[in-house]
Amino acid sequence: SAAEKGGYDYFMLKEIAEQPKAVADTLLGRIDPSGSLTLDEVRISPSELREIDKVVIVACGTAFHAGLIAKYAIEHWTRIPCEVELASEFRYRDPILDGRSLVIAISQSGETMDTLMALRHAREQGSKVLAICNTNGSTIPRESDAVLYTHAGPEVAVASTKAFLTQLVACYLVALYLGQVRGTKWGDEIQAVIKDLSRISEEVERVLETMEPVRALARTLAGKDTVLFLGRHVGYPVALEGALKLKELAYMHAEGFAAGELKHGPIALIEEDVPVVVVVPSPRGRSVLHDKIVSNIQEIRARGARTIVIAEEGDEAVVPYADHLIRIPATPTLLQPLVATVPLQVFACELATARGNEVDQPRNLAKSVTVE
Ligand code: G6P
Repeated sequence: SAAEKGGYDYFMLKEIAEQPKAVADTLLGRIDPSGSLTLDEVRISPSELREIDKVVIVACGTAFHAGLIAKYAIEHWTRIPCEVELASEFRYRDPILDGRSLVIAISQSGETMDTLMALRHAREQGSKVLAICNTNGSTIPRESDAVLYTHAGPEVAVASTKAFLTQLVACYLVALYLGQVRGTKWGDEIQAVIKDLSRISEEVERVLETMEPVRALARTLAGKDTVLFLGRHVGYPVALEGALKLKELAYMHAEGFAAGELKHGPIALIEEDVPVVVVVPSPRGRSVLHDKIVSNIQEIRARGARTIVIAEEGDEAVVPYADHLIRIPATPTLLQPLVATVPLQVFACELATARGNEVDQPRNLAKSVTVE
């Protein structure tokens, strides 16, 4: 009913709008006043966490994209090698696991059969399993050694939005907590990032306030066949997520690429007026990547692409090459997906509406897939 949708036309719009609160709720009570993390709910002892020599993340769909982003954070802040694998592929390749492997299963519903089978396989090999889940008491957390709940609240729309942002928050918390427990040379950076995380909900709110031009742009693209997405570093999984949203909702051909791979194939797809969404890394921090992606934008534009550039406020280098410029607030590199994903959700939702599609219940899809 309209009341359930809180005055929005679709649950998806309501859930996109709820993201600042979902992010804040997922952080609530997990950062103590001194700026350290208190993840007491993670019932794997600090001594066990110090023994871990490998992290393996398993998930499906949008949750898998959260896992891809988590890998950057976990490896950077903890120096523990981290693999990310589609849950449906995981147990069929005889993965190397033992008592020192920490397996993280990410699932909004907690009922996805592929993810459940992957975690059962991991536990049979003696690995510890930590679930990141949005549904209290669901099967995946019940069968795991520990759980960190995301506090997104119920997500009704089939295409995941607020659950994704909270999965990212939970992944950052786990990465920072592992860093804190094990002690790394990044101690100061970890402290600073914890502060940045506590401000991120306001940044997400600011992004939401500036989405009208994104909607207007989406409506002009309703007749297109293909949209391409480029990113690098954590912007690469964001590009994959942007493409997935467009497939799910707009039923359009959409693909995400790592921008560095452009020259190894995807650039052949660039022709006159193909929309290409580019997620630009911050010009601060890893500025080499920023400069490389600016060259990519120049290259594809020279070949006729219509460039839709998502770049940090104050990044002037992209301006001459952006047919459409979407601004996001400056954040630390690793946290950028929390703000960069939001315009892609809005974009896909508006394109779906413009194409006359059912936003909350896309064809052929289910909210939770409980078969293998
Ligand atoms: C289904 C949904 C996706 C979701 C995926 C994983 O395919 O349509 O939106 O990302 O399952 O779901 P989970 O509940 O495990 O996060």
